[in-house]
Amino acid sequence: MNQQYIMRLLTGMASLGIALGAATAQATPESDRQEFIKHYTTKYPNVKLEDYVYGALAFDADSKAQYDAIMEFPPYESQVENGRKMWETPFKNGKKYADCLPNGGKQIAGNYPMFDDAKGKVVTLQDAINDCRTANGEEAYKVNDMKTMGTLTSYMRTLSDGMLVNIKVEGPKATAAYEDGKKSYFSRKGQLNFACSSCHVQNVGSRLRSELISPTVGQTVHWPVFRGGDNLVTLQQRYQGCYSQVRAVPPPQGGTTMNNLEYFHSALSNGLPMKASVFRK
Ligand code: HEC
Repeated sequence: MNQQYIMRLLTGMASLGIALGAATAQATPESDRQEFIKHYTTKYPNVKLEDYVYGALAFDADSKAQYDAIMEFPPYESQVENGRKMWETPFKNGKKYADCLPNGGKQIAGNYPMFDDAKGKVVTLQDAINDCRTANGEEAYKVNDMKTMGTLTSYMRTLSDGMLVNIKVEGPKATAAYEDGKKSYFSRKGQLNFACSSCHVQNVGSRLRSELISPTVGQTVHWPVFRGGDNLVTLQQRYQGCYSQVRAVPPPQGGTTMNNLEYFHSALSNGLPMKASVFRK
């Protein structure tokens, strides 16, 4: 990313009229979600909440029409088909993923990431898949390997299409993980000293080079994406891309920082429908 553009964006930044990100003792995940929504719907009263699942496309009718046309015959269908084969291929012991994930792996993605009290940490859907693999004598996949974990989830997540996001944050440990993710979201980082919120809250709907900036709400429902039609990108890989944009060293995928960030971020989309494997520019 061009530094000049970033600097122009920074100087043009309006100050936030609301206390988003301020550590208030009373804030709960639900009040945080409401506060984000209030910010966006006040700024853009004509954009419907249900359209936030389309990200930046919600602000740009022409790009949305292009997206709809591409989604009729997705150019990445063969990759998702490979994911289906991986999903259906039995492990060496004859068991399948559907045998060890809740509800046969269907309509569950909206429950993840979840806080696992026994493990004392956030578990992503990728972690649940790996737990299933190791319980059946298979090696865990690397969470950042697009050929294995990425491709598998590009199909597996479609089994939850239409499910409403339902992230629960209950108990002090889960709340601490959520708060840690929230802190990451609002902390300035990198040489350019930007927080996630600097762009996706303060500058939502503004143009950064050729791209409109999407709202935080709705961002987690549609992963992985296929950028340019065939380049599979998972949610945490996208986080890493955004860290790099501001010249920050991204935390490792699958580590506590990233998982807690995904936990907080996903809870903000509670109630919105999931739809996996979509096209992005
Ligand atoms: C310098 C501005 C900037 C910062 C800071 C930034 N992003 Fe982004 N982000 C973008 C742009 C531009 C895009 C591409 C357009 C879009 O979809 O919003 C994007 C895209 C995304 C997307 C994909 C949205 C979609 O629907 O495809 C996610 C998720 C995301 N950012 C999360 C984050 C997180 C988490 C952070 C903090 C670690 C962050 N971003 C920091 C500018 C930024």
